[in-house]
Amino acid sequence: MTLIPLTEEQREIQRVAREFAESELAPNVARWDEEAYFEPSLPAKLGELGFLGMLLPEEHDGLALDTWSYLLALEEIARVDASTAVMMSVHNSLPTQMLLQFGSDAQKSRFLKPMARGELLGAFALSEPDAGSDAAALRTQAVRDGDDYVLNGTKAWVTSGNVAGVIIAMARTDTPDDRKGGRGISAFIVTPDLPGFKVGKKEDKMGLRASPTVQLVFDDLRVPAENRLGAEGEGFIYAMRSLENGRLGIAAQSIGIARAALEHAVEYADTRRQFGESIRNYQAIQFKLADMSCRVEASRAILHATAAAKDRGERVARYASMSKLMASETAMYVADEAVQIFGGYGYIKEYPVERYLRDAKVTEIYEGTSEIQRIVIARELYAGR
Ligand code: CAA
Repeated sequence: MTLIPLTEEQREIQRVAREFAESELAPNVARWDEEAYFEPSLPAKLGELGFLGMLLPEEHDGLALDTWSYLLALEEIARVDASTAVMMSVHNSLPTQMLLQFGSDAQKSRFLKPMARGELLGAFALSEPDAGSDAAALRTQAVRDGDDYVLNGTKAWVTSGNVAGVIIAMARTDTPDDRKGGRGISAFIVTPDLPGFKVGKKEDKMGLRASPTVQLVFDDLRVPAENRLGAEGEGFIYAMRSLENGRLGIAAQSIGIARAALEHAVEYADTRRQFGESIRNYQAIQFKLADMSCRVEASRAILHATAAAKDRGERVARYASMSKLMASETAMYVADEAVQIFGGYGYIKEYPVERYLRDAKVTEIYEGTSEIQRIVIARELYAGR
């Protein structure tokens, strides 16, 4: 049962996502995590299901779903493999949405159909080694040169950056003697075939190991001016607006991880016997399971209410940050408690709960740390004062 009733179509999306996750991801997820292996056939398989164009209109080969249905599918994927979920979330929430909302007709018709079909995976390059939470301090410089921009700099923490066919990258278009903060940044559509594009260091991560995270090095990268996305100087605003979508996706991913940890903990507590009986009979365990369950349901409720508000056309920046904050902290809490319930067995790789804990941690960090979400929420409380 779900607290907020689902439509027939939403249940169908959920079912398709669950079956895909169980058949294609579950048998491989432990090995992919161990080997930090990205399975290259995944984008095409997800594309075939329509899962890489979930929010795109049908004219761009998308499924034209509402946000809530998209998040339901994401939760099902994340419940089995959080690495595949982040690839799917970044692609659907950031590059495809930025192209759809801010791209020219020519850019949309060049990129969106292959992206929806999974032929071109999307990535988003905002952060840099010295510009994480303070994203407007990024230093990658774009200089206009005839019909091109020439970009120099290093982007960091780029999910799918080494396997993407299209990357929306933010770079400065203001000049060193006239810095304009967030208003001095533009967005560019970068493809790996452009001269000067290099994939840098691949990160060796604690969790989400099957999702590659890389640096991208732009070394006199020549980007045709027709690849600038939207107006010069608006790139940071586009990125911030898109991160509202992104944060909803990460919230759904977090709920998927938390749900998996809770389900395993419930099952384990039933079968594990200590002091002559099943440990589910002890209040110490029951209280943990009850608290874990409350947090999963509460996180999902605010996320789904936010998605519905977004689909009604309301501004949801504050609620997107609340959803991401609550869900990511829930994922960490629930995964940690699941390990505790499993005891020693939670600490070894025989059971997946240690992976849930490793995967959960980054949800409190990427697409805006928990501290940044609190800043966004607190600022909005004072909006207009
Ligand atoms: N929608 C529209 N406009 C927005 C906005 C939003 N949600 N948020 C901010 N803006 C606008 C502001 O109105 C402002 O516009 P004006 O110039 O007209 O005033 C402009 O953007 C600058 O905003 P701020 O003054 O608030 O900017 P700031 O420098 O103080 O930073 C911040 C604000 C909230 C801290 C922001 O920097 C931030 O969100 N930081 C976190 C960055 C982040 O989430 N990075 C994630 C990278 S992606 C990732 O994780 C990788 C991955 O692949 C998963």
